[in-house]
Order: sequence, then C-alpha cells, then structure tokens
Amino acid sequence: MTPADTMHAIAITAPGGPDVLQRQPWPMPPCGPDEVLIRVAAAGVNGPDLAQRRGVYDPPPGASPLPGLEVAGEVAATGANVSQWQLGDRVMALTNGGGYAEFVAVPAGQVLPVPEGWSLAEAAALPETWFTVTQTLVLRAGLASGMSVLVHGAAGGIGGAAIQIATILGARAIAVVSSPAKAAYATRLGAVATIDYTTEDIVARTLALTEGRGVDRVLDIIGGAMAQTNIEACARGAHIVQVSTLDGGNAQIPLRTLMAKQLTLSGSTLRPQTAATKADIADHIRTHLLPALSAPDFVKPAITPFPFDQAPAAHRAMEARGHIGKLVLVTPFGARA
Ligand SMILES: NC(=O)c1ccc[n+]([C@@H]2O[C@H](COP(=O)([O-])OP(=O)(O)OC[C@H]3O[C@@H](n4cnc5c(N)ncnc54)[C@H](OP(=O)(O)O)[C@@H]3O)[C@@H](O)[C@H]2O)c1
Repeated sequence: MTPADTMHAIAITAPGGPDVLQRQPWPMPPCGPDEVLIRVAAAGVNGPDLAQRRGVYDPPPGASPLPGLEVAGEVAATGANVSQWQLGDRVMALTNGGGYAEFVAVPAGQVLPVPEGWSLAEAAALPETWFTVTQTLVLRAGLASGMSVLVHGAAGGIGGAAIQIATILGARAIAVVSSPAKAAYATRLGAVATIDYTTEDIVARTLALTEGRGVDRVLDIIGGAMAQTNIEACARGAHIVQVSTLDGGNAQIPLRTLMAKQLTLSGSTLRPQTAATKADIADHIRTHLLPALSAPDFVKPAITPFPFDQAPAAHRAMEARGHIGKLVLVTPFGARA
C-alpha cells in the first residue's frame, strides 16, 4: 500500500530556464509487481535533467515526465514479486525518471543497498554515474588491473566515478581537469596523475606519463576536437568510450591512426538499456564494487546538497560548471532522516 494518493514533486512546468522547475502536488506513483516504491531522501542532478528541462530531451515512452535519474531513500512498499527488499531498507537506485519527487517506483533490479557509512544524500549521487561507467568502461571496454585510463571531466560526476572504479579495479587513472582545485579533488579520489587542459598539452603529458606508450582506455565526455586528441593519446589496442559530447557531436577522426593502432571507439547511453541490462550492471556493482565503497577509508565523492524546492539553484550551479563532484536535491524527509 502506498502512504497516500498525492505527494509533491519538482515538475518541469514548461521548457526553459531553471525557474520552470516548480514544486507541485503530483499523483503518487503506483508500485508495479516487480518494483520497489522508494521514499526519496535525495535525488542526484544529472545532465539529462537539464536537457529535459530545456525541452531538448524527451523522456522515453512510458517513463515519468518528472526529471531525476537517481535517488536514495527508504523502501516504502514492494511489489508482489519482490522479496529481496523490506520496508524501511536504506537503498539507492537508478530510476527510469521521476526521481525529483517524494516517492518514486523503480524496477527492483535497479536498487542497491546504501554502502555502510554513507548518508542518503551521498548515496543519491552514485547510481547514474557508476552504472554508466560500469556498463561502458568496465563491462564493454574491459577495464582491468594494470591498465591506464585517461579520464576527461575528472572532477565531475562521470569522471569522478571513472577514477574511483578504475582505482578499485587496480587500473591507473590519469585525470583531465581545468584547475588546481579540480586536480586536487581528482587526486583525492585516486588519480595517479592529473593534466590541466588549460595549461598543458593532453597528448604530450599522456605520453610522458606512460613511457611513450599511450593509455589503454579513454573515458570521454567532451567529443568534438577531443576525439583526435584521444586517438593520439592511445596505446596500440586501446578502447575509447564515448559517453557524452559536451563540446560537439561531430569530429574529425584520423582514421589511419585508428587503424594503425588497432583502436576501438564505442559509444553508449544508459537510459534506453533494458531493465535486464540495468539489473546486470547493478549485479556487477553489488559484487565487484560495493564492498570497496563500504570500506572505512573509502573517499566518498563530494556532494553539494540543495533543499528540494531549490532545484532551480542546483540546475544553475551545474550549468555554471564550477561544481566539484555531484549536486543533489534533499527532500524534507531527507533533511530529517
Ligand atoms: N552516456 C550515458 O549513458 C551518460 C550517463 C550519464 C551522464 N552522461 C553525460 O555525461 C556528461 C558528464 O556528466 P557529469 O555528471 O560528469 O557532469 P558534470 O558533473 O557537470 O561534469 C562534467 C565535467 O566536464 C568538464 N567539462 C569539460 N568541458 C565541458 C563542457 N563543454 N561542458 C561542461 N563540462 C565540461 C567540467 O569541468 P571543467 O569545465 O572544469 O572542465 C566538469 O567537471 C553529461 O553530458 C551527461 O549528460 C552520459
């Protein structure tokens, strides 16, 4: 049974700037037989939320029109086929949308326990980026112990997750950043070296850091002219993973170098993956990464919390590119929890 018929949510009242995000009464989402209803304590803020708010990214058919791709909170109800979660369990989850709300229903396979010692606000910042990096860099590109990986946007959500996942797996992350403060943060997360792209040549520094070989893997969210840089920075047999194109969706690619070095370039988006694929990614995180997250000395990604009804300020902060780590919205329940 759900606690009430109506809740509050942060809705996109019209396509536009951050102020179109408004707290409104909203129907309680039904909890399907294979779903978990989560009482949301905090919701992570992600790039697709901003694109959806601007009106340039529609949720897939059947998904909630509310933004919000990741949450943490407590289990408020479980579907008839769900036995692995109990009422009151502290969980974090990759949603299919609808996370900017007091309650969200999520397929049970996309729900994970909150790591030991983590607040619900810290846990809400994890699923979207860790699912993405696990799916692309680990499961698809085979990142493994002993490899080197060049990580762009290293002080942001995706980049931070890539550094930490690489470090857990025994790979060496080289972090690309834009300031000394972001370099210091990437180092705290485990990067073995940093490159400040505002003052340093990415290819020359990468080659110097890898005895002239180049890196084995690249996690890129920049695109545009960075595509050529990545290819030049790669070792023979390397794999470049493209998960965003913040600086442009078209690129000049030196195809002969791509061939000569035997490179692989792959791209992916997480949201359209099937529930089964998302559950497989969750299983991999649970088995191979969660134990490290619960270690007492694990450095948790930085979060900047915003009260739930200050979602416009959180979106403005993300657009200003000054943040380090992740931005999260904390519901009134989360503020008390
Ligand atoms: N493919 C997928 O499945 C998937 C899943 C999740 C997220 N994403 C996408 O991945 C991208 C990164 O997400 P995130 O959570 O890491 O974002 P974020 O926290 O805002 O971090 C982005 C980082 O990239 C750097 N950057 C470099 N050039 C940039 C530019 N032109 N615009 C904005 N930032 C730039 C920023 O630092 P400096 O400005 O200091 O360099 C920042 O640290 C977003 O576009 C997001 O939508 C894709």
